[in-house]
Amino acid sequence: MPEARIIGTGSSVPERVLSNKELESIVDTTDEWITRRTGIKERRISIKDENESTSDLATRASLKAMEMAGVSSQAIDMIVVATVSSDRRFPSTACMVQKELDAKNAAAFDVSAACSGFLYALTTAYNAIQTGTSETALVIGAERLSSIVNWEDRNTCVLMADGAGAILLSSQKGDGRGIMFAHLKSDGSLWNLLYTARGNSHIPETLQGMDLTSSYMIMNGNRLFKKAIESMSSAAKEVLNKTSLTGKEIALVVPHQANIRIIQALAKDLNIPMEKVYTNIHKYGNTSSASIPIALDEANRDGRINKGDYVLMVAFGGGLTWGASILEWSI
Ligand code: ACO
Repeated sequence: MPEARIIGTGSSVPERVLSNKELESIVDTTDEWITRRTGIKERRISIKDENESTSDLATRASLKAMEMAGVSSQAIDMIVVATVSSDRRFPSTACMVQKELDAKNAAAFDVSAACSGFLYALTTAYNAIQTGTSETALVIGAERLSSIVNWEDRNTCVLMADGAGAILLSSQKGDGRGIMFAHLKSDGSLWNLLYTARGNSHIPETLQGMDLTSSYMIMNGNRLFKKAIESMSSAAKEVLNKTSLTGKEIALVVPHQANIRIIQALAKDLNIPMEKVYTNIHKYGNTSSASIPIALDEANRDGRINKGDYVLMVAFGGGLTWGASILEWSI
């Protein structure tokens, strides 16, 4: 079966920085609370008229990945965008990106798996390459969560943010084995720990007196917290086990950036020191499906990962969904 290697990475975040201090004047919170409980210091938020929709951010991240890989838009035969904040209900954000890139030869579609979305999209593209359906796939995680959070709800608005990351996955021969194994899981019975109540085809039982804020994200953070650590840890152990690798052999763990305390608990459970865990949550907050590809791009450009390194990616999110993947870095 063809191997699937990452040949380029890119990312893009909005210019506008929203600090914890500024949030103190929006909701009843403090910089101290947000820093201590989440590790977030600031985040990037799209500004409406600045061409910073989900597809704009996704397109910019993609162009950087294509430049790194030296791949033209015509060579891309699949575009998969993971997002829960697409520009429109339809068409897909992937089709908007296709238009912007003029990637005429691609099949384009979105994947919805919340914060685990990038790993779901990556696994879809990986399988497409292994079966010969695709040779060069553009895989993107992109979000404009600022458009679906309730800016009066301190439980969520201090956490969520905007951004995009992209990778190019290729079947071409090269160094490193590329993706070695992927493990994905879901538990739909816990969907109501993180959701938007209104939207799409679901109609609330009582339209009269409907709370308009329910069109925004609603989260039971406390219950998700424990679930996140358990699920990410078990997924990471599963992929380590399947690839016969130990934590010691992993050069870098790239986890979904939801909360620094979740990441620290995960590292402890896996017995991997925090020096080998990539974190940028202090700068960007939780960008859902964008967090892993943004982190991968930064780690790659900063020289934190090099050819031949084993990289463990692990995510958890609404759905519930979770998963992990190990690859041998090939750039
Ligand atoms: N500022 C100040 N106080 C706050 C804030 C805030 N922004 N938010 C909540 N509080 C208060 C609560 O009201 C509560 O007050 P009380 O004790 O008087 O009742 C207190 O702080 C503690 O609240 P908890 O919810 O218990 O706080 P916790 O330590 O659990 O932190 C958090 C909350 C950050 C949300 C955490 O639970 C978390 O990170 N959960 C996981 C989130 C996650 O992984 N989501 C899935 C991925 S995201 C995705 O899929 C898009």
